[in-house]
Amino acid sequence: MTTTVDTAFAEPTATPLALLLLGRQADPNSERGVECPGDLPPASDPDLVERARAAKAKLGDRVFILGHHYQRDEVIEFADVTGDSFKLARDAAARPQAEYIVFCGVHFMAESADILTSAAQQVVLPDLAAGCSMADMATAEQVAECWDVLREAGIADVTVPVSYMNSSADIKAFTGKHGGTICTSSNAKRALEWAYEQGQKVLFLPDQHLGRNTAVRDLGFSLDDCVLYNPHKPNGGLTVEQLRDAKMILWRGHCSVHGRFTVESVAEVRERIPGVNVLVHPECKHEVVAAADEVGSTEYIIKALEAAESGSKWAIGTELNLVRRLAKAHPDKEIVFLDRSVCFCSTMNRIDLPHLVWALESLVEGRVPNVITVDPETEKYAKAALDRMLALP
Ligand code: 13P
Ligand code: SF4
Repeated sequence: MTTTVDTAFAEPTATPLALLLLGRQADPNSERGVECPGDLPPASDPDLVERARAAKAKLGDRVFILGHHYQRDEVIEFADVTGDSFKLARDAAARPQAEYIVFCGVHFMAESADILTSAAQQVVLPDLAAGCSMADMATAEQVAECWDVLREAGIADVTVPVSYMNSSADIKAFTGKHGGTICTSSNAKRALEWAYEQGQKVLFLPDQHLGRNTAVRDLGFSLDDCVLYNPHKPNGGLTVEQLRDAKMILWRGHCSVHGRFTVESVAEVRERIPGVNVLVHPECKHEVVAAADEVGSTEYIIKALEAAESGSKWAIGTELNLVRRLAKAHPDKEIVFLDRSVCFCSTMNRIDLPHLVWALESLVEGRVPNVITVDPETEKYAKAALDRMLALP
């Protein structure tokens, strides 16, 4: 029997922190944190949608627009494909005829698209300030220093680096150079299984939560098999014995959006909505993942909700743009955001319709704005790591 539920999506409260996360200013600490140059159309321009449509139509097959699931609705409307970071990396590689790839996502994704596309194609990021705070948490210097620490402890030779897609091209190149692979939240289990066939230990960069959750939930490791390397402490804050005993060396990085969900929010939603299924992204803290009913990447979350029974109830722990869209797409199911307060990704949100219109109209006028390029040496090694990921069974 089909149950009818109240499907009104409750907008979480706009706290002062949430307004900050909405990202109204340039973030000097973001991955590439610079302001977008040029004249942006005002957000109040009533013709923005028409202008985007007209510019896209003029460009035709010369442009291919990729949209990450966390992008705003107004941007997703113009995406030729939408996806999580894994799907978008594949989609970018599969479109050799497009001269311009307009990447509506964040900087590390655009870098990966540049690495995976041909030299004749240019990748455009509509706002250069769309970085990722997690990717910023591992710099090339810090990671090189960490590798020296592992070398001195005598374990570098048996350690395989596995880097989350959410990392700079430099970190991907480090990974490729040292025989490792990239992973995303869709394939982290397969990437780790592959890595443990190559070596005895993994250095997992930069998201400690995805690394820990995958090791414990999917590979059956204990929490004690994992140690946390803090790049701000001498020797990562670890003793040689701790490093030698560990199977999984986790980098101390996290996502500032998914890191906000707590076990209290899980308990609160279970109390508020009896029978609710709690589904969270693996970038959430381990205790949140342990308290949830299901865990999966953005692509997994979308499929799970498509397959869910009409009348079922869901609390979703991932970025708010996606959760809102899912609630709208499935009015027969009750879909709420796991947290009580707003939780957008501020840098994803930097790409808005004015930036997209500006980028597309610039292309029509023959100017290619905000091109993301990775230097050939970095690209060579980063591509090796990305290709290993794409070849995972
Ligand atoms: P996926 O797109 O791989 O699910 O990752 C989520 C994310 O945080 C992207 O920045
Ligand atoms: Fe980075 Fe988190 Fe935003 Fe993804 S959601 S881009 S990991 S800060």
